[in-house]
Amino acid sequence: MASTFDVAVIGAGPGGYIAAIRAAQLGFKVACIDDGVRVDGKPAPGGTCTNVGCIPSKALLQSSEHFEMARTHFVEHGIGLKDLSIDVPKMIARKTKIVQQTNEGILYLFKKNKITFFHGRAAFEGKKENSWQLNVSLAGADKKTETLAATHVVVATGSSPRALPGAPFDNKRLLDNEGALALTETPKRLGVVGAGVIGLEMGSVWRRLGAEVTLLEALPEFLGVADSAVAKEAAKLFKAQGLMIHTGVNITSVKTDGKDVLVEYTDAKGVTQKSSFDKLIVSIGRVPNTSGLNAEAVGLTLDERGFIAVDDDCRTNLPNVWAIGDVVRGPMLAHKAEEEGVAVAERLAGQKAHVDFNTIPYVIYTSPEIAWVGKTEQQLKAAGVSYRAGSIPFMANGRARALGDTRGFVKWLADATTDRVLGLHIIGPMASELVMEGVIAMEFGASSEDIARICHAHPTLTETVKEAALALDGRALNF
Ligand code: FAD
Ligand code: NAI
Repeated sequence: MASTFDVAVIGAGPGGYIAAIRAAQLGFKVACIDDGVRVDGKPAPGGTCTNVGCIPSKALLQSSEHFEMARTHFVEHGIGLKDLSIDVPKMIARKTKIVQQTNEGILYLFKKNKITFFHGRAAFEGKKENSWQLNVSLAGADKKTETLAATHVVVATGSSPRALPGAPFDNKRLLDNEGALALTETPKRLGVVGAGVIGLEMGSVWRRLGAEVTLLEALPEFLGVADSAVAKEAAKLFKAQGLMIHTGVNITSVKTDGKDVLVEYTDAKGVTQKSSFDKLIVSIGRVPNTSGLNAEAVGLTLDERGFIAVDDDCRTNLPNVWAIGDVVRGPMLAHKAEEEGVAVAERLAGQKAHVDFNTIPYVIYTSPEIAWVGKTEQQLKAAGVSYRAGSIPFMANGRARALGDTRGFVKWLADATTDRVLGLHIIGPMASELVMEGVIAMEFGASSEDIARICHAHPTLTETVKEAALALDGRALNF
């Protein structure tokens, strides 16, 4: 006899576990199934984000940033250090501890919300009357299986790294995100294919710890997704840090000879180049996880790129089957997955829910950080929208000078006629936190004048956000 539930969520990443919690809060009987496993065999809920994504990458970014600060900036503060060293295995052990604490936190939240957690892999079996039947292959040596029945199924199976054709990951020399987060010593020569978000974050970690880092990017333009002024500033600052970024590259061959990774490519001028690295991170985007779900057998439709096809409300083509997060269209971000999880649970309860893709913040946790929300200048120009821009460098901010980090700027974009905020673009200290002013402004339909008139604490970095709004109207006070 199958255990029966109102809602079964497949996947306990940020999309799935949050959907499960919200559904349980709304009174549904909920199951969540996840196959993530720790090295000690225990469950590892939290998905890519917790285990091999957001959380571990930020832990290593923090450790490596401390090291870089101690190596290069402490001296300005009068702090002298002798024999500075980095214990990479200890840094990795700290990261692992943070990940495991997060895994345990999620298991606690399941218990607290009376969610039944199954550690294993789920697949659709079929439909009986009004219930979806799921087969769960439980984790563990005894290979047990269990059948669940659920009225609603939320698929939140996430994504996996995309490999270069003919060069599968071995996580010894050819690394995906998991391998890049688990190195136990700093490679001398690190190659990174793809100068996107992972490439820049992981490249920054290992550069700070002493690696010579070369990024090979296919597109002719660096960081084309960001506002072009931000991308230009970032390219200048990253180059000064020692990151070697080559754009317009076409990788023609990747081989390992047991010792080195040999990469052949044509550069932006079409000239053949050969490089050899100790390790090569490949971060060229991710593919949705749909294999093993038995999607075809039950007729679950995928789109032309292999994502589960959904409408604006995350409904699939199958009745009462929903899909959220990285396995569906839209940005592959943990907070986007979470918002979709909440929205689906609320729709199941008959509530109105909405996720506005235009107000999703984007953050790249390099140093300085890069963050934005809304439209870029190039998008507004392409759409023929008339807008005004207001920009202020962090150099004009007292708190930034006291922190010793005056790199970058803040830029607001607002409609030229109505003054409604259309975008906020930041490169600089704590951009990840500052960008929320833009998100809130856009959610509330604020004008740049609204921001300019809000009292901001002094001395804070947020004053640069206010000053940039004043600058939009030509009345900045401190610049
Ligand atoms: P996932 O987190 O991928 O979770 C899916 C879960 O489902 C996994 O545990 C998987 O094992 C499980 N699963 C799959 N199939 C089955 C099945 N059949 N049965 C049972 N379980 C199954 N995003 C940010 O917003 N901020 C960041 O700073 C950030 N940093 C990142 C850094 C790196 C290195 C990477 C790789 C990603 C990062 N991301 C970041 C992206 C973020 O991790 C993803 O967008 C997010 O995890 C997607 O959540 P999800 O719930 O859709 O899927
Ligand atoms: P990405 O899409 O950010 O970057 C991939 C880069 O690889 C692009 O610049 C692309 O042009 C390039 N590329 C593609 N094919 C190539 C090839 N054959 N040769 C050379 N370059 C090639 O994807 P990434 O960095 O793999 O990250 C995956 C996802 O994870 C992203 O969608 C991102 O949203 C998410 N993520 C988010 C983070 C954050 O929010 N801070 C941090 C890390 C990842």
